[in-house]
Amino acid sequence: MAVVSLGLPTVAPQARPRGGSGGRALPTDRPDAPGLVDRFDRAATDLRVSLTDRCNLRCTYCMPAEGLPTLPRDAVMTREEIVRLVGIATRDLEVRQVRFTGGEPLLRGDLVEIVRDCAALPDRPELSLTTNAVGLDHRARALRDAGLDRVNVSLDTLDPDTFATMARRPFLERTLAGLAAAAEVFDVVKVNAVLVHGVNAEHAADLLTWCLERGFELRFIEQMPLDADHSWSRTSMVTAAQVRDLLAERFTLVPDDAPRDGAPAERFAVLTRGPGGGSGQAATPRLGTVGIIASVTEPFCADCRRTRLTAEGGVRSCLFAHTETDLLGPLRAGASDSELADAWRTAMWGKGAGHGMSAPGFTQPERTMSAIGG
Ligand code: 5AD
Ligand code: SF4
Repeated sequence: MAVVSLGLPTVAPQARPRGGSGGRALPTDRPDAPGLVDRFDRAATDLRVSLTDRCNLRCTYCMPAEGLPTLPRDAVMTREEIVRLVGIATRDLEVRQVRFTGGEPLLRGDLVEIVRDCAALPDRPELSLTTNAVGLDHRARALRDAGLDRVNVSLDTLDPDTFATMARRPFLERTLAGLAAAAEVFDVVKVNAVLVHGVNAEHAADLLTWCLERGFELRFIEQMPLDADHSWSRTSMVTAAQVRDLLAERFTLVPDDAPRDGAPAERFAVLTRGPGGGSGQAATPRLGTVGIIASVTEPFCADCRRTRLTAEGGVRSCLFAHTETDLLGPLRAGASDSELADAWRTAMWGKGAGHGMSAPGFTQPERTMSAIGG
């Protein structure tokens, strides 16, 4: 994989390198801290683990129509390897939250067992899952019983034809069945939606109404340049400001005062719109909460707490990193827990200040979202 410097990003005003090293990783600078700290005073406590690069959908903003070449089975972490690395992260590296992603994590036949093993770790992390929910109706209860705490379901539209256009598969009913099953067994269900102009954006308020009626917290995610077709453009994506405008036709949004605490979503209380289109905030009841994840137009890199493991056991310090640190090779070659922990720390010490999307030389990473894990 090519190593491309992102340069000094402009997106994180409060993020300043400690050593004046010009954005280069200098592991010898690394302090002797247990956690996954970086040169910008951040500590990663939130781990995303991709369990597979495979997916049963082909969302246009993620995968090409024909799919992507998939990893050979033996290149993907086994259940035991995943649990060992999650155990190192929680015991030695101060990771507190673990989210399983894909591709589509439900395609792992041993997902329930992976969750169960991670829930049995001595320093049990909070466990969550990001899924397209196809097939979740058969496994929601088993996952909850195994120790899964929370589920985020990706759902961009309630219209079957629009779903089939965006996901290139006619699986809306199956996603909705999975979502309904999740709602029965999990206290918190969040829904993730990516909007595309002229496709589903105009129905954003309908989707929010539907989620509010069911007690789901909907989060709109700005489309990021992680699509296989490289067709993303800053001018064609739906921005957070546009999402707020689309929702303002029907709702009043009041920014949530609670500290974001590293969460990517800016949260808003949703109120019905006052009579005559006025704000009418005080008089109208709160309908629920909506989140907007403005990774592109209002980046939150300075407060990022993420570390990622790809399905092949590579550490990625950022979605937009151009390098990875392989842990699976050393693990299979007999590395000790402390050697693996140290390699992970070094990888995160080299984390850039931000994704650098606004920098002139920005290039999209080679991997798509499906191959990184969202
Ligand atoms: N930009 C933003 N979000 C994306 N997702 C997938 N690809 C992209 C992209 N290019 C979302 C999915 C899912 C989560 C894992 O990431 O919709 O909810
Ligand atoms: Fe699959 Fe998720 Fe990518 Fe859609 S966004 S193709 S559901 S990995």
